[in-house]
Amino acid sequence: MSYQNIKFEKKDQIATVTINRPEKLNALNMAVMGELREAFTSIQDDPEVRVVLLTGAGEKAFVAGADIAELNRNNPVEAKAYTHKGQAVLNLIENLGKPVIACINGFALGGGCELAMACTMRLAGENAKIGQPEVKLGIIAGYGGSQRLPRLVGKGLAMQQLLTGEPITAQEAWRIGLVNEVVPQADLLKRAEEIAKKIIANAPLAIQYTLEAVNHGMEMPLAKGLFLEATLFSIACATEDKKEGTSAFLEKRPAQFRGR
Ligand code: COA
Repeated sequence: MSYQNIKFEKKDQIATVTINRPEKLNALNMAVMGELREAFTSIQDDPEVRVVLLTGAGEKAFVAGADIAELNRNNPVEAKAYTHKGQAVLNLIENLGKPVIACINGFALGGGCELAMACTMRLAGENAKIGQPEVKLGIIAGYGGSQRLPRLVGKGLAMQQLLTGEPITAQEAWRIGLVNEVVPQADLLKRAEEIAKKIIANAPLAIQYTLEAVNHGMEMPLAKGLFLEATLFSIACATEDKKEGTSAFLEKRPAQFRGR
């Protein structure tokens, strides 16, 4: 598959997806969203990929939002379809079954912040500016910002961002738990690869079940989430990797996981 609006690379079980419209600060138009859907669908089905890194081309932006030129032309019926399509792509990323690390290399505004929030974790470059400025355009967040932001940082802080439309710095995003780490911009991908390698060294099915336990469990009351955890725990205990991981510990040797 060849892409016009994103770059897609695969190396050492890590796929790197780069949104590639730097002249428009990587704004998300429908063409980008379509290619992201293609790329992430292929990654989901690709056993060679264990972790995904997602970033933006150029020095200035991760993603500066949904494409305002497209938004400007939308009628309400198109806008509803547009939002559902975008939300579906972000849901695919959130529930990919593999960790996706957002590397926020500059502006992550509107759809950019929303895209990063659909990822499993977020690293920010020191220059990152993150926010939901939709209200400045007379619209509201449409790719999950009004839902994922309060879940990540709490209602009050989310409301402040959503209602003022003012972006926050990388340091502030780190302070409120919106990003996991702040690193020099030049080191973003290197740091993300370090984290990816730690994940890849672990048992593949245990990683998959952990993602499922957290993603589904967050949407459930605690008692049901705990029931889900116990069920997935018992499935993990039926894997060859559980036998290998526990035996390797007792035999004082590194485990050789096979994803079975
Ligand atoms: N949609 C479409 N185009 C966008 C865009 C967006 N969300 N964000 C930036 N661009 C385009 C600009 O129109 C400009 O294109 P041009 O050179 O053809 O005029 C180009 O990207 C560079 O942006 P520019 O505004 O000149 O850069 P800047 O450094 O002065 O400002 C921002 C950077 C991010 C502060 C500013 O671009 C901005 O406010 N963007 C919109 C952010 C937003 O509201 N996002 C939410 C959308 S729902």
